[in-house]
Amino acid sequence: QTHFLDLNHQSDESIMDLIYNAMQFRNGKQVRWKRSVYFANMFFENSTRTHTSFEMAERKMGIKPFNIDPNNSSTKKGESLADTVKTLQAIGIDGVVIRHKTTGWYEPLIDDDNISAALINAGDGSGQHPSQSLLDLLTIYDEFKTFKGIKVAIIGDLLHSRVARSNAEILHRLGATLYFAGPDEWYPQDFEAFGTFTTIDNMIEDVDVVMMLRVQLERLNDDSRENFTAIDYANVYGLTTQRAQKMKPTAIIMHPAPVNRNIEIADELVEAPQSRIFRQMQNGVYARMAILESILKQRNLIAEDNYEDLN
Ligand code: CP
Repeated sequence: QTHFLDLNHQSDESIMDLIYNAMQFRNGKQVRWKRSVYFANMFFENSTRTHTSFEMAERKMGIKPFNIDPNNSSTKKGESLADTVKTLQAIGIDGVVIRHKTTGWYEPLIDDDNISAALINAGDGSGQHPSQSLLDLLTIYDEFKTFKGIKVAIIGDLLHSRVARSNAEILHRLGATLYFAGPDEWYPQDFEAFGTFTTIDNMIEDVDVVMMLRVQLERLNDDSRENFTAIDYANVYGLTTQRAQKMKPTAIIMHPAPVNRNIEIADELVEAPQSRIFRQMQNGVYARMAILESILKQRNLIAEDNYEDLN
């Protein structure tokens, strides 16, 4: 793949390659380029983890990053995303990492014959978040060395979460058994194809991974936001300390973050021994290195004698 837009576009084998390559980067693998490589990072929606870890991945790999603030770019004057990418490409950028509120922002760009820069999806509206999904897969694989038969609960705001959609599709395909929980009105009916909708109390004792989702208050309408109370949400849908005590000793807690402490997850669980939340962030750098390597390999930019001997 010369772009990285949706993890579901990749074969099972390619996904496992990305996971193993991310592990190798974590062990110190280096790449060398045939020439200088330049990437632009454009985040039209807020981000701390994805933006910083893409930039860290680029810097660790010797890719030269350009961080373009959309608020100070000519998109504010009405320049389209396609023209922005063509402009960056003309200036010498090899690839762009974009987060945008429009679901499928990349569709018109991949159909445009005049766009040759690599496109990386850092989150599209309520669509997909493929690099998050890859780092989540890496974190689960680190723990269990397989996806087959692993029981994963994805809990919370399933409707607004691109992380939930990416992970539900891919974990189901890789053989995990999925359970979903959360408010009825935030359950997308098409998730029935991937797993079982139940309550957190029904499955907390049985699952291997408890993946909590952020309540996306910014995506709720005014009525829903006014009626929302943190304590009620936590009592019915949240991972409280009482619920966490019922988890299997081998089970892990995940959350893509940012976390609403004491809403979807109790404050003290965020850094508890069973939590992998900060490990997910560390893995994010290596997963993104593997993504960049995969794209740039397809584009024939990696030097033949690229890899340092890891033995
Ligand atoms: N998990 C995630 O996408 O975090 P950011 O919004 O901070 O990038």
